[in-house]
Amino acid sequence: MKIVVTGGAGYIGSHVVKALGKAGHDLLVYDNLSTGHSWAVLSGELVRGDLADKILLNDVMGNFRPDAVIHFAAFIQVEESVREPLKYYRNNVSNTLNLLEVMVHNGVRNIIYSSTAAVYGTPEKIPVTETAPLEPLNPYGASKVMGEKIMAHLSEAADFRYVALRYFNVAGADHEGELGQAYREATHLITRALKTAHGEFDRLSIFGTDYPTPDGTCIRDYIHVEDLAQAHVLALHYLEKTGHSEVMNCGYGHGYSVREVVEAAKKVTGIDFPVEETCRRAGDSPALIADSGKLRSLTGWAPRHDDLEFIIRTAWEWEQKLRGSEI
Ligand code: UFG
Repeated sequence: MKIVVTGGAGYIGSHVVKALGKAGHDLLVYDNLSTGHSWAVLSGELVRGDLADKILLNDVMGNFRPDAVIHFAAFIQVEESVREPLKYYRNNVSNTLNLLEVMVHNGVRNIIYSSTAAVYGTPEKIPVTETAPLEPLNPYGASKVMGEKIMAHLSEAADFRYVALRYFNVAGADHEGELGQAYREATHLITRALKTAHGEFDRLSIFGTDYPTPDGTCIRDYIHVEDLAQAHVLALHYLEKTGHSEVMNCGYGHGYSVREVVEAAKKVTGIDFPVEETCRRAGDSPALIADSGKLRSLTGWAPRHDDLEFIIRTAWEWEQKLRGSEI
């Protein structure tokens, strides 16, 4: 298939581009390189462009004539979204609208959309299924709910189909060592812990120890980025085969607390890095664990890296590779 990948130079996007390239797809990556890197695009052509630039986007779509779009380009940090909500609504909602309008204009009818577990807020039942109420606790999650709703309405009004993949906590790196997380400002727990182990930060803060969980810290379902990449390849086949719009959770179905992740990071690195307990971070949900039965049954997804230490080890190897590089 011919596929336009927005945000394909970013952390998750680049792993998906690699997987799609291996699966034989013809790719065009559209990325403004605000957080992504040109070296991370291992397959297809890279066009440096912003989703706000509808003229360029329309030219690209009209010339390349893709069968589908995979839409990663978005801001993703929960805490930042609480501080700067307009930034999130502008990029995640308004720019998504641009993309959808350009797709409709060019007769492109299929999209895989990056959604998030943050759409659920604090779910009543864990593991959470796709039918749980959507009650996001922060502007980031709310912006992703809006994206999903816009696509749902569009699919009722026009010949248009989507799969929204709700990612839980994506972590780890390409096992071949070619790709990994390379944000200039790391905020995610595993990356932050490993950078602390490397001495880049004085200490790791644990945000909140008074949550209603067994050890008082938040629980998350950490999924290896290559298993998530495979979910995209399969979701694309699903969309092509069935033409059905769907929403699917992407996680393993069990979680780890912040303290458990910290202990695992110390074990994998062999470094007893400093840790401090601080107050809660705004917008955090106590526990998010996926029921991924739908993804498994509809697409045949069978994860290969459901192992926290493997996840951390691949991320650690990547961190070491980043040392001494210009990234
Ligand atoms: N945490 C710390 N210290 C840190 C960083 C994080 O204690 O230095 C805690 C957070 O408070 C949270 C947990 O570790 O309880 C995980 O935090 P992350 O920042 O790694 O990830 P989030 O759960 O906030 O968000 C991520 C993605 C979202 C996605 C969500 C789904 O960034 O896009 O997972 O669960 F929606």
